[in-house]
Formats: sequence, structure tokens, C-alpha cells
Amino acid sequence: MCASWWAYLGSVDKHHSILSTPKMGFLVACGTLALLGTAHAYIWPSPQLDALEAVRFDQLGFNTLAASLANFVQPCNLFLFDPTINPNSGRSDAADWIRTAYHDAATHNSTDGTGGMDGSIRLPAEQARAENVGNGFANTMGIVLAVVDRYVSNADAIALGALIAIETCGGPEIAFRGGRIDAPVPNAPGVPVPEQGLDSHIASFARQGFTQTEMIGLVACGVLRRHTFGGVQHSVFPNIVGVLNDPNSTDDVAHFDSTFVTFDNNIAVEYIAGTTKDPLVVGFNDTTNSDKRIFGSDGNATMHSFANSPELFASTCADLFARMLDTVPSDVQLTDVITPLPVKPSSVKLIMDGDTLQLFGLVRLWNTTEDPNRTVRVLWHDHVGGTGNNTLSFIDTSSSTGGKYTATWYGFNSTITSRPLLLDPVAGVTSLSFVVDGVLKDQGGLGFAIQDGFMLSQTSCQGGAPVTGRVDVAVRNGVNPSRVYLEQINIDSVQIRSITEIDITPPTQPVAANSAYSLWSMNLTDQGMTFTIGAEIDGVKYSTTDPISFFDFAPCPE
Ligand code: HEM
Ligand SMILES: *[C@@H]1O[C@H](CO)[C@@H](O)[C@H](O)[C@H]1NC(C)=O
Ligand SMILES: *[C@@H]1O[C@H](CO)[C@@H](O)[C@H](O)[C@H]1NC(C)=O
Ligand SMILES: *[C@@H]1O[C@H](CO)[C@@H](O)[C@H](O)[C@H]1NC(C)=O
Ligand SMILES: *[C@@H]1O[C@H](CO)[C@@H](O)[C@H](O)[C@H]1NC(C)=O
Ligand SMILES: *[C@@H]1O[C@H](CO)[C@@H](O)[C@H](O)[C@H]1NC(C)=O
Ligand SMILES: *[C@@H]1O[C@H](CO)[C@@H](O)[C@H](O)[C@H]1NC(C)=O
Ligand SMILES: *[C@@H]1O[C@H](CO)[C@@H](O)[C@H](O)[C@H]1NC(C)=O
Ligand SMILES: *[C@@H]1O[C@H](CO)[C@@H](O)[C@H](O)[C@H]1NC(C)=O
Ligand SMILES: *[C@@H]1O[C@H](CO)[C@@H](O)[C@H](O)[C@H]1NC(C)=O
Repeated sequence: MCASWWAYLGSVDKHHSILSTPKMGFLVACGTLALLGTAHAYIWPSPQLDALEAVRFDQLGFNTLAASLANFVQPCNLFLFDPTINPNSGRSDAADWIRTAYHDAATHNSTDGTGGMDGSIRLPAEQARAENVGNGFANTMGIVLAVVDRYVSNADAIALGALIAIETCGGPEIAFRGGRIDAPVPNAPGVPVPEQGLDSHIASFARQGFTQTEMIGLVACGVLRRHTFGGVQHSVFPNIVGVLNDPNSTDDVAHFDSTFVTFDNNIAVEYIAGTTKDPLVVGFNDTTNSDKRIFGSDGNATMHSFANSPELFASTCADLFARMLDTVPSDVQLTDVITPLPVKPSSVKLIMDGDTLQLFGLVRLWNTTEDPNRTVRVLWHDHVGGTGNNTLSFIDTSSSTGGKYTATWYGFNSTITSRPLLLDPVAGVTSLSFVVDGVLKDQGGLGFAIQDGFMLSQTSCQGGAPVTGRVDVAVRNGVNPSRVYLEQINIDSVQIRSITEIDITPPTQPVAANSAYSLWSMNLTDQGMTFTIGAEIDGVKYSTTDPISFFDFAPCPE
């Protein structure tokens, strides 16, 4: 149990130069896991998993990302990508997301372990290939870029976009793993095209890691997405689709089944009934009728089973989509499946304000609705054996998975999210737990670890020649970090994120912040700077999560 947890940490470490998994939390986690006999690898805080979980599950409503992917697939026939914002274009963002993910995945070579979901479809050189004809890939990338951050790669964002499109538009729920790594260069080509023969398609899917039966399933599920949410465009495939003269499809998109924008097994039902309009089955040009060849390749057995059972079709699609999204180069190790934390602290931030330690935060109760009778308390445990508590206030709800789940959010100190709990810096804070209707929620005894060894000090300021400001970091006396630094996210020319660490020179003489903390200070010159603070304590790197902007600071005293 402990060994696999180690392996998991190791894999995350490999992908991200900076991690702030608390060492003590890990050691305790090991013992607890062994005790419970179940491997639940996700213990808060884990910056990467916390971030991926939020993109995955906090989709619409309170405390969701501005670039929440669900905004781009609701309703499912939405086509924001159309530059003319034409509601009757016949295309949909949801379809573009799914096709983008498939075209990223389909370059995988299971023999040598190269290619797959590594975000290489974002690269113009890959988009320019004939196998990637159409503007759907470029369309999705603008949104991908808004979601990507230090913990969410382009490839993870593409996978999440496809997953959220499928789930939001009535599809099955899909198991999501994170940790995809972005390729800096295009993969070898390998996306199937309609004019290939059947043997060539079977070989292509085998290279991608799918059997012939799985090929039929994935194409049917893909066709399902394609059929239900998307189509084939005349402008892109004039050999397959003619001019439709349909006012409801001004882009001349031939839809693959009659239920555009819902997710059901109609693709199979209509195929078996011989009433399908799938342009890759009944197209006028048999050379490009690849779905016809693929669906019939086992005597229609697989398509019959789908037509007979919507449940089988949905569960097959859920499995195959998950495998498609998990098609990664062999040196990438994905995280465990990320499930929503039942109780999740969020936006937790510490700020030293003179003699007061401010603790900001929210807590999310997964899959609950507003209930005025519910009582939620936060407990904070300190360095001297004490425990404080406060009753939390309901703020708002969020939803995900097409409205299937609702979550309620509570503020640590009232509904005003900017109002912190006011703590004594000497006692500090080591961990939190919550009590919901009298039931203790503390991650099986671990608590929710809080790192109060370092934090932004409110004495940080902006302005004042010759410098443009100063950042002060309050460091807890006795913690003795080997380094304290600012972290900035860099984006290189191929949109890969990395972190630059800017060391703060340790003070030559201790500068007291209060009786428990000292200040480490750095003059700033870059006004546009947004950063987080990092520190290395006993060989472990920790980071704050909330981006700090220069403009948050008060003016420097003259
Ligand atoms: C033999 C395999 C496949 C072939 C030959 C094929 C071919 C095509 C073609 C010709 C289009 C029309 C593109 C356009 O008009 O711009 C299309 C669209 C689409 N494909 Fe595939 N495809 C295959 C497999 C898949 C798979 C496995 C998936 C997903 C799992 C998938 C997802 C989609 C989606 C969602 C669309 C609609 C895109 C939109 O409307 O923007 N395809 N495919
Ligand atoms: C997949 O990798 C193997 C081993 O390197 C290679 O022989 C084969 O040609 C590759 N397949 C494709 C389609 O590139
Ligand atoms: C049928 O499709 C093939 C492959 O795209 C193309 O070469 C051929 O010209 C098409 N035939 C007709 C009649 O459009
Ligand atoms: C276009 O869609 C509208 C609304 O669904 C429908 O009433 C109308 O008949 C459609 N027009 C055509 C030509 O399909
Ligand atoms: C599969 O089903 C289609 C549609 O009903 C039919 O045209 C085709 O002949 C069938 N193929 C086989 C091998 O039964
Ligand atoms: C979410 O809550 C609903 C209503 O209480 C319940 O039926 C459903 O099983 C819950 N889902 C999960 C995944 O716990
Ligand atoms: C809250 O409690 C009151 C008194 O017990 C009860 O009448 C009411 O139905 C409860 N409300 C909800 C939403 O459970
Ligand atoms: C909550 O804090 C108050 C004030 O510090 C204390 O009197 C009370 O016993 C605490 N309650 C619980 C349940 O810990
Ligand atoms: C909540 O905020 C108010 C206003 O700043 C403050 O007076 C109060 O002490 C805070 N409560 C706790 C438990 O820190
Ligand atoms: C910041 O700049 C001020 C003014 O030039 C200087 O007095 C101070 O020593 C500098 N502080 C640090 C930490 O470099």
C-alpha cells in the first residue's frame, strides 16, 4: 500500500518540478491506508490533484473557473467557435472537443509507446496535416489555453474538454485520470481517414491499442458524438457531403443520426434498421464509407448488441472513451482516477496581518443541495494542542455533469469570501477538519494539512522610487526553510508551462513580523508580476496556491 503511494508521488514529481505534498501528511497517509486496507490516493492538499479535480467537477455556478469548460458545451448545440456566432451553423463545440481529443490520441503507437494524448494536436504543424483537416482543432485551442496552468497540461485540458462535452451532453460518466505531459513537437501521423480500406483501419486501431471489436465500439461512440453532436462538413469534405441548402445547417453539415445533440444509441438503431443518414455509411462515394465497412466488419454483431441495449452502448462508450483519453506515451504515468472529494477545502490562503494570522477559505460539500438546517463547522488545530472552531455560512452552489451533481459551498467566516478567520500567529495552524451535522470530516483522521511555515505578509507594498514595490514573506520562527522564493509561470513558444523560481535572499538580521514570524523581503521591479510563493522546508517544496498580484498590495509608505 505504502509502496504504491510512493510510486504515485514519484510519478507526479516527475511531471512537475514543484510539488507541495506535505511529507508528514504522506507518512500518516501510509499508515492510515494500510489500516483501512483501501487505496484512496488522493489526500488534500495535493496541488495537482486539487486543480484537476476542480476543473473536472466544479463546472458551473459558484467558484468555478472563468474558463470553465462546461460553458462551452451548454447547450450542446452551442457553437461559440463559429466566428459569425451563427446559431444555425449545424456544428457544435462539443463535437469539436471530442474530435480534437481523438485526433490527439490516434497518433499513439502501442508497439514503441510513442504518441497519444500529449497535446500535440495543438501544434500548427500537426493541424496542417491532411488527416487533421478542418478548423475544429484550432477552435478548441483558444479555450484549452485558458484552462491550462502549472498543474493542468494542454493534454489534460483537451481530455477534460472532451470528457465534459460527453458527460454534459447526456453521455455516460467517464473515469478521469490526470498527469498527461505535453509534447514539444508533433507526433508521427496516424489519424484514420475515411478512404482507407478495412484492413488498414483494423491495423490503425491495433496500433492505437484497440481490437477490431473495440474499433467498432469507439467509432460508434465517436460517431455517436459525431453523429449526435457533430457531423461532416461539406466545405471540408466535398467528396462526402454535398451542398445541403438547409437553413438549419448553413455550414452544410450532414449529421450522422436524427438526434443531433443528445447522446443515445440511435446511431446503432438507425444503422441496423437501414435508416441511418451517416455520411460515412450511406455517402454517395463508397470509397469514403468507412463507417459502413467498420460496422459491418463483424457481421454487424457489435452494432446489433448496441442497438439492442442502450445500457451496453453507454457502458462500452464510457470504457472506450476513458481508454482513448488514457492513451498516452508509455513514459507517462497517469494519476489514479480522480473522484470528487466529499469535503474539499478550496481557495485556502494565509496572510500575516501584523499580530493576526488571517486564514481565508471555502469548503465544498459534494453532491449536496442547500439545506438551511445543515450545520457546518470548521475546526482548526494549532501548534500548541489547541483547537478553534467557527460555524460556517452557506454561500452558493455549483453543479457539474450536466446538472447531475450539485455541490454547496460554505465560507470559513461568513458568506463574505474575503473575510478570514483571525488566528493567533503564535499558536498558528497545522490542520483543519470539518463537522457536518455533527459528523467529523477529517480525511480518516489525517485532517486537512495547512502549511503555516511561510505566507505573504500584509506589509508588502507597491510603488516608491527607485523600486516599484516590495514583497514581504512572513516565515515562522523555528521552521528554517532552506529557500524562500517567488514562483512565476512561464509559457514557452509551444505553450508548455514551467516554473521560474526567484530566490529571496535570506535577511542578514532577523526582521520581526510579530513574536512568531520574521520577514524575508524582496524588492520588485516588474509591475505586471503575478506569482505564488514557494519554500523548501526539510527538503520538501511547498507552494501557495492563490496567485498574488502586485496590485493587491497597499502603497509603500513614503
Ligand atoms: C476510422 C475512424 C474514423 C474516421 C475515418 C473518421 C472520420 C471523420 C470525418 C470525415 C469527420 C468529419 C470532419 C469534418 O467535417 O470536419 C469526422 C468528424 C468527427 N469525428 Fe471522426 N472519424 C473516425 C473515428 C472517430 C473516433 C474514434 C472519434 C471519437 C471517439 C471521432 C470523433 C469525431 C467527431 C466528434 C466528429 C465531429 C466533429 C465536428 O462536427 O466538429 N471520430 N470524423
Ligand atoms: C510503431 O512502432 C514500431 C516500433 O518502433 C514501428 O516498427 C512501426 O513502424 C510503428 N508504426 C507506425 C505506424 O509508425
Ligand atoms: C470518392 O472519394 C475518393 C477519395 O476521397 C476520391 O478520390 C474520388 O474522387 C471520389 N469520387 C467521387 C465520385 O467523388
Ligand atoms: C429548422 O429547424 C426548425 C426548428 O427545429 C424546424 O421547425 C424547421 O422545420 C427546420 N427547417 C428545415 C428546412 O429542416
Ligand atoms: C449490416 O447491417 C446493414 C444495415 O442494415 C446491412 O446493410 C448489411 O448488409 C449488414 N451486414 C451484414 C454483414 O449483415
Ligand atoms: C448524489 O445525490 C443524489 C441525491 O441525494 C443521490 O441520489 C446520488 O446517488 C448521489 N450521487 C453520488 C455519486 O453519490
Ligand atoms: C428544517 O427543520 C425544520 C424544523 O425541524 C423542518 O420543519 C424543516 O422541514 C427542515 N427543513 C429542511 C429543508 O429540511
Ligand atoms: C468552539 O469555540 C468556542 C470558543 O472558543 C468554545 O467555547 C467551544 O467549546 C468550541 N466548540 C467546540 C465544539 O469545539
Ligand atoms: C470573522 O470576521 C469578523 C470580522 O472581521 C471577526 O470579528 C471575527 O473574529 C472573525 N471570526 C473568527 C472566528 O475569526
Ligand atoms: C529595497 O530597496 C530599498 C530602496 O532602494 C533598499 O533600501 C532596500 O535595502 C532594498 N531591500 C532589499 C531586500 O533588497
